[in-house]
Amino acid sequence: MREMRFSDLHTVEAIEQAVQADPWNESQFRDSMTAGHICLVEETVEGVRGYAVLMPAVDTADILTIAVAPGYQRQGMGGQLLAAMLEWARSHNMRRIFLEVREGNLPAIALYNANGFRKIGVRRGYYRASLGREDALIMCRELVFH
Ligand SMILES: CC(C)(COP(=O)(O)OP(=O)(O)OC[C@H]1O[C@@H](n2cnc3c(N)ncnc32)[C@H](O)[C@@H]1OP(=O)(O)O)[C@@H](O)C(=O)NCCC(=O)NCCS
Repeated sequence: MREMRFSDLHTVEAIEQAVQADPWNESQFRDSMTAGHICLVEETVEGVRGYAVLMPAVDTADILTIAVAPGYQRQGMGGQLLAAMLEWARSHNMRRIFLEVREGNLPAIALYNANGFRKIGVRRGYYRASLGREDALIMCRELVFH
């Protein structure tokens, strides 16, 4: 795992187009990198095959995107990216991590549940869907326990 570089953006955008319902374009990744978001990639011998972006605030952080290329999913890469995000947040004294996910995105919800995220709310009709709109689940993982 390493930080995303501008030279990765072509590959990252291609994966994004292949796997996300509402894909980011290259300039959105570029903006995240320039803004200082935590942008990590997972590489195989064939090149970058997964990535994740975390936006830190004062003592919380938001996972903006996480994805693994088709053909490389369900091999642990998503879990490793998520663990790296959690580790970064913990080591920078973040109290909790938030994310939003389409309610129909069962693989992602399973990944988040398996990593201690819990549903804390719903944004009705937040996402565009093929037919109408789809709700967003807001999920949170506490990093500090009292
Ligand atoms: C969500 C995503 C990043 C998961 O990445 P991944 O590398 O396949 O995940 P992992 O192999 O690390 O899976 C870890 C755990 O998550 C859960 N999980 C992942 N994919 C799953 C699936 N298709 N069905 C059920 N559970 C799943 C399982 O608990 C899994 O553990 P297990 O394999 O031991 O059962 C990947 O499916 C993806 O890129 N999806 C498209 C993009 C996306 O929807 N991103 C999230 C919204 S921004």
